[in-house]
Amino acid sequence: MLVDAFSRRFTYLRLSITESCNFRCTYCLPDGNDCDSRTGEITLPEIRRLVTAFAKLGTRKVRITGGEPALRKDLCDIIATCKAVPGIEKVALTTNGYRLKRDAMALKEAGLDAINVSIDSLDAATFHLVTGQDKLAEILEGIEYAQAVGIKQVKINTVLLRQHNALSLPDFLQFVKNRPVSLRFIELMRTNDNTTFYQKQHLSGSSIQQTLLEQGWQLQAKGISDGPALEYSHTDYQGKIGLIMPYSKDFCADCNRLRVSSQAKLFLCLFTEQHQNLRHLLTSDNAEPVMQFLQSAILTKAETHYLLDDNSGSTRHLAMIGG
Ligand code: GTP
Ligand code: 5AD
Ligand code: SF4
Repeated sequence: MLVDAFSRRFTYLRLSITESCNFRCTYCLPDGNDCDSRTGEITLPEIRRLVTAFAKLGTRKVRITGGEPALRKDLCDIIATCKAVPGIEKVALTTNGYRLKRDAMALKEAGLDAINVSIDSLDAATFHLVTGQDKLAEILEGIEYAQAVGIKQVKINTVLLRQHNALSLPDFLQFVKNRPVSLRFIELMRTNDNTTFYQKQHLSGSSIQQTLLEQGWQLQAKGISDGPALEYSHTDYQGKIGLIMPYSKDFCADCNRLRVSSQAKLFLCLFTEQHQNLRHLLTSDNAEPVMQFLQSAILTKAETHYLLDDNSGSTRHLAMIGG
């Protein structure tokens, strides 16, 4: 079992398989950021060895992230490989959704259990402005198709942006009225690349939280492998609304995840200076060296991220390590 110095248990691996992305979300990759190098991406055998070592140490859930994971031609093989590792119960994918319409069936057949899709606006023109892609309708169809082929757990990620979606809560609520999805508002996080943007656009989720409570939404209990969202449900709505508020007090107290980047580097936190290369440990099927490495690394994990210190550290953009 992986347990850190603050008694947190790590049962959830977020594995980024590429830094590359075909979208250019204003908060993530402003100005066509240079994230398109595909060299040195973690290979399928490396993934199998890595996930095996994590699973032997208690990891039960793997989330595949990017960049945009669907840019990897072997995405289905990666999902199937993770799912086949003894101990892994759930494989999830975070995606911009642009290939769901084409690939949802193959992803399901590969063993995918859950998807999280980014939708920052329900207005097509605003969506285009924020992501650089005019694909809202196509992505919404892709989500419906994914549900139709049996990927039942669907979450939508909406980064809260003062200028673009701050006033759209009624539209988002309407969206979940008859759809079995969880739509989560994510507070914009400051990175090295988006500092000016952050100052203009950052909004706290607390006013949404207030409105939800006033309208009778109820906070749900969390499971041990759940993410950082506070999820609210309402008897009149089929879907749920979540809030991810990394600037709130105690956000890191129940952290349950570790990250490995597409360059096979271990990141103990989304925002940290520390990262360690695992690649040299992934050349053989002997899981022991990786397990020993992880067990000693986990003891150095900090209690909290340093976003609160008005700092964005070395994290240039979240596409680097998959959010
Ligand atoms: P699930 O509960 O597995 O669905 O995961 P999730 O909500 O964490 O996954 P997703 O990839 O959809 O991430 C949603 C948002 O939460 C992204 O903006 C992530 O960067 C953010 N996030 C996830 N984990 C952490 C974390 O440990 N720290 C911080 N600061 N943000 C996180
Ligand atoms: N702040 C908050 N969320 C972000 N994401 C990417 N960059 C940021 C940021 N700076 C979100 C994406 C995606 C998720 C994985 O991370 O919108 O939904
Ligand atoms: Fe791509 Fe996701 Fe970053 Fe948007 S937020 S540019 S979809 S990695």
